[in-house]
Amino acid sequence: MFENLKPLPDDPILGLMVAYNADPNPNKIDLGVGVYKDEDGKTTIMDAVKKAEKVRWEQEDTKTYVGIPGEAAYNDAMHELILGKGHAALKDGRVKGAQTPGGCGALSMAAGFLKRANENTTVWVSTPTWANHIPLIGTVGLAIKEYAYFDQANSAVDFDAMMSDLQKVPAGDVVLIHGACHNPTGADLNNDQWDAVTDLAEKNGFTPMIDLAYQGFGKGLEPDAYGARLMAERLPEVVIAASCSKNFGLYRERTGELMIIGRNAEQTNISASQAYSVIRSNYSMPPAHGGALVRIILEDADLRANWEAELKGMCGRINDLRTLFRDKMNDRGHDFSFIAKQNGMFSFLGISKEQVHRLRDEYGIYIVDSSRVNVAGINSKNIDYLADAIASVLLQTSVN
Ligand SMILES: Cc1ncc(COP(=O)(O)O)c(C=O)c1O
Repeated sequence: MFENLKPLPDDPILGLMVAYNADPNPNKIDLGVGVYKDEDGKTTIMDAVKKAEKVRWEQEDTKTYVGIPGEAAYNDAMHELILGKGHAALKDGRVKGAQTPGGCGALSMAAGFLKRANENTTVWVSTPTWANHIPLIGTVGLAIKEYAYFDQANSAVDFDAMMSDLQKVPAGDVVLIHGACHNPTGADLNNDQWDAVTDLAEKNGFTPMIDLAYQGFGKGLEPDAYGARLMAERLPEVVIAASCSKNFGLYRERTGELMIIGRNAEQTNISASQAYSVIRSNYSMPPAHGGALVRIILEDADLRANWEAELKGMCGRINDLRTLFRDKMNDRGHDFSFIAKQNGMFSFLGISKEQVHRLRDEYGIYIVDSSRVNVAGINSKNIDYLADAIASVLLQTSVN
């Protein structure tokens, strides 16, 4: 029966990685896949993670299953990291969670859970959104609609258009919102805008699902959780899908967290029992290693301080690169000031697909067709080459 299957094209971002690796150009630059890179272009293991691995090696005394929700202490530590110590929803017993294989695992289990809660629900996603959102949510058979989000002309959130679309979302539908560091645009809601979306959700009764994959990569651990904390406090039902891939650099350890916040403790327990049943029928139980490392770091004052300082350093490096890139392009006569106003690893350069292809073919600069760049792929050694190449492609296009 396998002969019935048709071949599928490579994943566009992972395909780009393969092409980059095969390119012999010594000046090549990879601004494709979304992993943090340091000044030397390396994705190293965080120091706090290395230290936690030592502790883990000494402490771990069994390899038996961790259970459907994973390690309870990890779940608790993540809930506090995301919502903040003493958050009303935690005090009221309205939060239950599960350790998941990455943020993707959390999103996918969230989708299965939402389907059980209301099989006719529609999930509204921003235009654009992270490319994997659609298959992760669509695979369980949920309907998907889009709400306006990004204004290409101004490279910023088009909040009026967003609110006008969200007005149409009925009670019982779900709105997927990026908690911080919107992927792919880098354009985030400010606090006033979070307040307004929360007011609307309260008034009209839709349920937010918050994808928090970059806490600490935007403005910091606390400010990046503003929207999640606000909604969890004010709204009766919220789902949060978080990832430790970026902020702990645990990409391949597949470490994430699904959080269900219900209207009261009893309803939350019922909801969690359904979410656990969805998990059981998918991957059964999560891998243990990454979650244990996160728990060790968050519970130990020294390791936690170490991790927070490293994360701050990564976030600061990205923000410095954003201003430096703006200045380099300004020196070459191009206004890229929007880049310095955005958050996280990604931004759209706002150039055409043809220009993206020319950067790849003529300069060995690898960017996704949409012109999304991973800012962390820039460093002091490649930034002038990059700025020259972009300026040249823009100039030649305007001359032609
Ligand atoms: C917006 C967004 N959500 C979720 C994820 C999930 O990450 P992972 O499954 O690697 O933890 C990513 C990863 O790139 C992302 O960009």
